Amino acid sequence: MSTVTVENVLSVRHWNERLFSFRTTRKAALRFENGQFVMLGLPRDDGRPLLRAYSMASPNYADYLEFFSIKVDNGPLTARLQHLKPGDEVLVGQKPTGTLTLHDLKPGKRVYLLSTGTGLAPFISLIQDPLIYERFRQVILVHGVRHITDLAYADFIRDELPHNEYFGEAVGKQLRYYPTVTREGYVNHGRITTLIETGRLFADLGLPELDPELDRVMLCGSSAMLKDCRALLDARGFHVSRFIGDPGDYVIEHAFVEK
Ligand code: A2P
Repeated sequence: MSTVTVENVLSVRHWNERLFSFRTTRKAALRFENGQFVMLGLPRDDGRPLLRAYSMASPNYADYLEFFSIKVDNGPLTARLQHLKPGDEVLVGQKPTGTLTLHDLKPGKRVYLLSTGTGLAPFISLIQDPLIYERFRQVILVHGVRHITDLAYADFIRDELPHNEYFGEAVGKQLRYYPTVTREGYVNHGRITTLIETGRLFADLGLPELDPELDRVMLCGSSAMLKDCRALLDARGFHVSRFIGDPGDYVIEHAFVEK
């Protein structure tokens, strides 16, 4: 049996000239945990699949899949993906996996979801998981980007999610969204790492500094962002989940940026 299925594009949204997201059909048999990724792609000229890892931005109970991608003009896959139109076919691997799951976090009071760029994607799935609001009293979503227009999903997070008929009330009470921009003026400015080091993030949110006894962290971003955030967390006594099934104080995943 093939582990890749053909799905149809349902809709495409271009956030700016560098970022877009799209929805596809899904097979009911595809089961995944919120925060996981699949292999996604298109057929090559010779018919073999060209696949890259993509986190689902949609929650596992939705009848569609949603993906959030950069556009790289000379990227073998995204140069083509960015031209997708409704009705087009894409290939979706049927073996989801990944380390950014609630399963692999120890219990805690708060969970920080720290992302840069398209590293936001798995967190868009996770903030639509009612379980996250049961497991944590507060959920703090931080999204670090270069430019204001890179703040994809901001309206969804601020305006739509709190009105969800099932868990909107929990979102309204428990979810904090902290977008931050580095390369132009914005209400929140600077890299996530700097905001943590200076304590600015906590002062702005009215929360105490990171505490491994109480706080849990999920990280998704570039290699450099992960390395620097890991160093910050390790220095504060946080222990990383070392493998799937080993709960830790924090979990990490690369934002699968295609160069
Ligand atoms: P900066 O503008 O200072 O490079 P990118 O698109 O390159 O992945 O960057 C997305 C965001 O992540 C940008 O705001 C960028 O800041 C920030 N960033 C880049 N490297 C790091 C890092 N090592 N730690 C934290 N944030 C980073």
